[in-house]
Amino acid sequence: MRLDGKVAVITGAGSGIGAATALAMAREGARVVVADLNETSAKGVVEQIEKAGSRALAVRADVTKAADNQMVVEKAVATWGGLDIFLANAGVPQFPTPIEGQDETVFDRIFAVNVKGVWLGAKYALAVMKKQKRGVFLVTASTAAIRPRPGGQTYAASKGAVVTLTKSLALECAPYGVRVVAIAPVATETPMLATFMGKTEVDAEGMARYIATVPLGRLNKPEDLAQAAVFLASDEAAMITGACLEVDGGRCI
Ligand SMILES: NC(=O)c1ccc[n+]([C@@H]2O[C@H](COP(=O)([O-])OP(=O)(O)OC[C@H]3O[C@@H](n4cnc5c(N)ncnc54)[C@H](O)[C@@H]3O)[C@@H](O)[C@H]2O)c1
Repeated sequence: MRLDGKVAVITGAGSGIGAATALAMAREGARVVVADLNETSAKGVVEQIEKAGSRALAVRADVTKAADNQMVVEKAVATWGGLDIFLANAGVPQFPTPIEGQDETVFDRIFAVNVKGVWLGAKYALAVMKKQKRGVFLVTASTAAIRPRPGGQTYAASKGAVVTLTKSLALECAPYGVRVVAIAPVATETPMLATFMGKTEVDAEGMARYIATVPLGRLNKPEDLAQAAVFLASDEAAMITGACLEVDGGRCI
C-alpha cells in the first residue's frame, strides 16, 4: 500500500473530490481525518471507509476558523501520533457574473474559504510537519488559476492566490523535508459543477460546452483527483514540491 501507516487530514472531505480522496487514501493504508462543515456527510464518508476495513475520523470543521484548523491537526496528532498529509481541499464556487454585477460579499466568502481556509490549514499543519521534519501539504487549486473562464474572476483570483501560496510555502518548507504541492482540476463532476456552468443543475448544454474545452473529451471524475493526490502524497513523489499539477485532460495547453 502506497500510504501505509500515514496520517492524513482532508478538509471538505464530505463530498466530491475530498470524499473520493479520503476513500482512496484509506484504501492505500492511510488513517484519515474527514473534516467538513457538513458533519453528516463527513460521517457518511467515514462509514464507507470503515466498511472497507480502514480507519477514519469524522470532524465538523469550518476552514475559515483558525480554531477549527488547529483542532483538526490536533485530533490527527492526538489520535494517531503525527500528521503526514494535509489536503486543503474545502472550497466554494462562483456563479459566472460580470465584475460590475458582483457583490462584495461574494468576494469575502470565496476568499475566506478558498484562500484564508488554505492559509490557516498551512499555519497549523506545517507547524507540526516542520517539527517532525516530514509531511506533504496539498492544496486543491483549479485550472481557473491558469486558464480562467469569463465571469469567474473572483473564484479564479482565489485559486491563483493559493497556487502562489503553494510555491512560497514549498521554498519555506524544503529545508525541513516537507513538500507543498497544488493540484489544478479542470471541471469535475461534483455538486459544485452546475454553479460553474451558471446553472442550478448540470444539463446537456452545459456538459457539451465544457467538454468541448477539454482536449481529452471528458470532464474529471472525483477519482481522477483522488489518484493524483495519492501519488503526490506518496514517497513516489519525493522530488515534487512547489508544483501545480494540472489534472485537466489538456485544458490548459
Ligand atoms: N468541481 C469542480 O469542477 C472543481 C474544479 C476545480 C477545482 N475544484 C475545487 O475542488 C475542491 C473540492 O470541491 P468539489 O468539487 O469536491 O465540491 P463539493 O461541493 O462536492 O465539495 C466541497 C466540500 O467542501 C465543504 N465546505 C465548503 N465550505 C467549507 C468550509 N468553510 N469548511 C469546511 N468545509 C467546507 C462542503 O461542505 C463540501 O462537502 C474545491 O476547492 C473546489 O474549488 C472543483
